[in-house]
Amino acid sequence: MKDKGIRLQKFMAMSGVASRRASEDLIKEGKVQVNGRVVTEMGVIVVPGKDKVKVDGVNIRPESNKVYIVLNKPVGIVTSVKDEKGRAVVTDLIEEVDERIYPVGRLDADTSGLILLTNDGELAYKLTHPSKMVYKRYIAIVEGVPNKGELERLRKGIRLEGRMTAPAKVKILKNFDEDSILDIQIHEGRNRQVKKMCEKINHPVKKLKRISFGEIELGGLEPGNWRYLNDEELDYIKSL
Ligand code: URA
Repeated sequence: MKDKGIRLQKFMAMSGVASRRASEDLIKEGKVQVNGRVVTEMGVIVVPGKDKVKVDGVNIRPESNKVYIVLNKPVGIVTSVKDEKGRAVVTDLIEEVDERIYPVGRLDADTSGLILLTNDGELAYKLTHPSKMVYKRYIAIVEGVPNKGELERLRKGIRLEGRMTAPAKVKILKNFDEDSILDIQIHEGRNRQVKKMCEKINHPVKKLKRISFGEIELGGLEPGNWRYLNDEELDYIKSL
């Protein structure tokens, strides 16, 4: 699925350069560059937030350009736009994007996997609101092998800080002698929730990775890599 592109003259008009008609004239006059190449033909499509457009050598971009990104956060990176201890943060991995984006929710520094980033504050708020019931899916390596009763406790809800967790979907994917791999889906976003839930059943988490956020999946995205959400994913998150 391709990123959403718009015609170059529309992009220019949205950036406040000139009307679409006058922007076409600027293009014909050879004053416009896309990704470092002078463009003089009509019909060029650009992707806001991705393609770099210059007019008379000056970078331009639409004022209200909304960007939606999915990143595979490696272990050790902080989910923030700035860290007071100077540690690397998720936005350090997305330097090519000019918009001021920020993470939707958070993953612990020692948790890896899917994190969404956007500059659409309204949508970010909606996505993290518990009433939205967006399931987040985690793969957890835990110590030992949880028995049926322990798995049922995770599913039904566990008391954490005086409040029960909402029902979760939990499966054992594999067990070894010393540890097991669990597939856990929760729709809340309480602090260190998966780790605390597993600790409560005496099977502490050794490693945690988030692989999906609702219908948005990490797929083959390598740790440290990111991509824009495709049209289908955008329709999905906007429909929530
Ligand atoms: N649950 C956790 O314990 N940590 C995370 O980073 C996410 C969910």
